[in-house]
Amino acid sequence: MNQKAIIETHNLSKTYGNQVAVDDLTFSIEEGEIFGFLGPNGSGKTTTLLMLLGLTEPTRGWARVAGFNPTKEAIKVKKIVGYIPENIGFYDDMNAIENLLFIARLNNIPDSVSSPKIKDALERVGLKDEAEKKLGAYSRGMRQRLGIAEIYLKDPRIVFLDEPTLGLDPDGTTKIIEYIQSLSTDKNMTIFLSSHDLKQVQKISNRIGIMINGQMIAVGPIEKLAKEKLGVEDKAISLDDVYMKYFQEVSP
Ligand SMILES: Nc1ncnc2c1ncn2[C@@H]1O[C@H](COP(=O)(O)OP(=O)(O)OP(=O)(O)O)[C@@H](O)[C@H]1O
Ligand SMILES: [Mg+2]
Repeated sequence: MNQKAIIETHNLSKTYGNQVAVDDLTFSIEEGEIFGFLGPNGSGKTTTLLMLLGLTEPTRGWARVAGFNPTKEAIKVKKIVGYIPENIGFYDDMNAIENLLFIARLNNIPDSVSSPKIKDALERVGLKDEAEKKLGAYSRGMRQRLGIAEIYLKDPRIVFLDEPTLGLDPDGTTKIIEYIQSLSTDKNMTIFLSSHDLKQVQKISNRIGIMINGQMIAVGPIEKLAKEKLGVEDKAISLDDVYMKYFQEVSP
């Protein structure tokens, strides 16, 4: 077992009927890392995330998240992780402050403690002026920013993000990526980032993992993978080129 690993899996697998979604996944992530989790549609990224979060059970193999088994100790894992799912849900008939207060109350945090934190979190993600607008009137980018505010409020050790920039305009994308990076630099959170946006992933990730057909076919720092696959040591190498090279080899 890797002593420094905050996330670790061994032969983690998930099958839906005849469909193998995740196939013998063994990898680990160290505390404080920003890990870019890449792969085409249907390659098993969301299924992996759900297993790490204890939201779905593995068919085989195991995972440990901060020392806990997500299947058997789901509540302990939920306490120390933050999760921004593909389709983030808030209550449309409540405003941003009310939504975050509601979440804080669910977590037994008294209003006197959560209120100043909520104010600070909304300010950090640039939603101060929209704080009293009902979520029904929020754009996709504003919802994602509120998702980040929720992370600031909860202050977890690990954050799982599933496609946080999907459908956002370039400015919205840049902002979300900056907020994610600040969760790492200001708060030393471990970030597990699933995304198709290779440019943004390249900007902030320490390491990446490439999933294809439920298997992680490559894992490591981008420069190392570029050297191995393309034989170049150029720091300016684009992750798109590295990714495509792996992808073409597996599905010619
Ligand atoms: N609840 C489910 N029931 C049956 N099959 C499922 C279920 N969830 C996922 N799958 C299948 O498992 C495989 C992996 O899906 P998953 O959602 O993990 O992929 P992904 O990498 O997150 O894809 P995307 O990039 O499109 O989000 C796919 O073949 C998918 O059809
Ligand atoms: Mg997915």
